[in-house]
Amino acid sequence: MVVTRVSGRVRSLRARLVVTVLLLFAVACVAIGVATTLSLDRYLSTRQDHELSFSLEGFVAQQTGRAPGRLTEDEGDGTGAPSGDGGRRPGPPDGVFLGPGPSANAIGAVFDDGRVVMARLAQRGGTSTAVSDDDLGALRSVPADTAPHDVTLSLGDYRAIGWTEGTTTYLIAQPDNAGATVTRLVVTELVVLGGAVVLAGIAAAVLVRRELRPLERVAGVAAQVGDLPLDRGEVHLAARVPDPDPRTEVGQVGTALNHMLDNVEGALAARQESETRLRRFVADASHELRTPLTAIRGYAELSRRERDPVPERTTHALARISSQAERMSTLVEDLLLLARLDAGRPLERAEVDLTRLVLDAVGDAHVAGRDHRWFPRLPDEPVTVTGDAHRLAQVVTNLFANARTHTPPGTTVTVSLDRPVPGRVRLRVADDGPGIAPDVLPRVFERFARGAEGRTRAGNDTPSTGLGLAIVAAVVAAHDGTVGVDSAPGRTVFTVDLPV
Ligand SMILES: Nc1ncnc2c1ncn2[C@@H]1O[C@H](COP(=O)(O)OP(=O)(O)OP(=O)(O)O)[C@@H](O)[C@H]1O
Ligand SMILES: [Mg+2]
Repeated sequence: MVVTRVSGRVRSLRARLVVTVLLLFAVACVAIGVATTLSLDRYLSTRQDHELSFSLEGFVAQQTGRAPGRLTEDEGDGTGAPSGDGGRRPGPPDGVFLGPGPSANAIGAVFDDGRVVMARLAQRGGTSTAVSDDDLGALRSVPADTAPHDVTLSLGDYRAIGWTEGTTTYLIAQPDNAGATVTRLVVTELVVLGGAVVLAGIAAAVLVRRELRPLERVAGVAAQVGDLPLDRGEVHLAARVPDPDPRTEVGQVGTALNHMLDNVEGALAARQESETRLRRFVADASHELRTPLTAIRGYAELSRRERDPVPERTTHALARISSQAERMSTLVEDLLLLARLDAGRPLERAEVDLTRLVLDAVGDAHVAGRDHRWFPRLPDEPVTVTGDAHRLAQVVTNLFANARTHTPPGTTVTVSLDRPVPGRVRLRVADDGPGIAPDVLPRVFERFARGAEGRTRAGNDTPSTGLGLAIVAAVVAAHDGTVGVDSAPGRTVFTVDLPV
């Protein structure tokens, strides 16, 4: 469904199109209806009025016994009204006092000084009947100025025309057929055009829905791609708009979207390719560095064990070479491990007894960090997960090393292990040290993120590198787990959640 937001209201494009088409159609219908009605009304009224004046001429001629003559101005608009050139036309036949034409229900009346001389209502077949007094009253009030006037009688709406000669008034009234016809036309138009608008609405809804379906497909593809995780790893943008027709606007949008997806897919593939190459390079470089580093450490060790007297400065230099080579080996190992985890290298999968692992690490920590107090809080029954024992041990070691190296002597470190929910295991390492520096905290799990003290630890043989927590995060992620930290002065807690 294609939806647009208009001034806070959500209205679908489909609904707006249908409404617009319907409005235009309705306006066109009304315009046609009004024009037709007005033109027909004008035509019929003019014709009726001509007939009326012609009838008056016939009526006067019949009543006075004269040949029909012109009583009113002929506007000569081609409606076929008589011009009244007396001699040519025979007078109306006997009994038909209103002249030729559709004169049923016509009324002819003669007044003399307001008194009724004669008044008849013509019937079909040439007969006539009397006119009621009420109607005569209404007819008497019609101005006898040889111009047609509207008058309402008991028989309905009439048009009447009168002519006065001396004190005698001749008057003819005919049913207002023009008005009735126009009224019927208006009713017919309302019914037909109303029906047409309804039908047009249905047709427009169906057509618009059909025409917009390709647009919905385009939106669907865009939404599908929008949901894909594009930020890492190999990405396959398989979704495409099927067979877009480039001759239509929607087809052009579809073609453009497909083209864009091709482009994005190419760019992502290139990014992935270069990332893979870089990772492989780091892994290869780390791997290659291990051997010479081992050799350096070995030779330094060998030289230090030399029995012959060695100058003190040389001994110191050899000790430094040893320790720095050791540090570099650790760094290289860390880099290699990260590169392998990044590459998605499968981990070993075995049952790992976390309780045992934590207990061993606490034992080691006791030895390494004598001036810290270590409190393991472990459940009685062993807690196990499936994973890589080696890597998980590294997670625990790194967290313990941080609790030891980034806190002052006398700090209490509490290690707990529990199952918060079935199927998950939670490891917590908490210390009451000074906490993680606020500028480091938000990116503490990033590579080479470390506090200022770690970088400049004066006189420290092994200044920190900032890879410890990055490795923790990578190993935990490789086990489909999560790691988080909560830190404030006096309380720093690392929480590792792992699936069983
Ligand atoms: N328990 C903690 N208390 C205070 N600060 C901590 C603690 N754990 C980590 N930090 C801070 O987080 C930074 C990053 O830790 P991380 O383990 O990633 O790197 P590192 O310990 O500096 O170096 P490495 O572990 O590679 O030797 C540390 O430099 C330190 O500033
Ligand atoms: Mg560390």
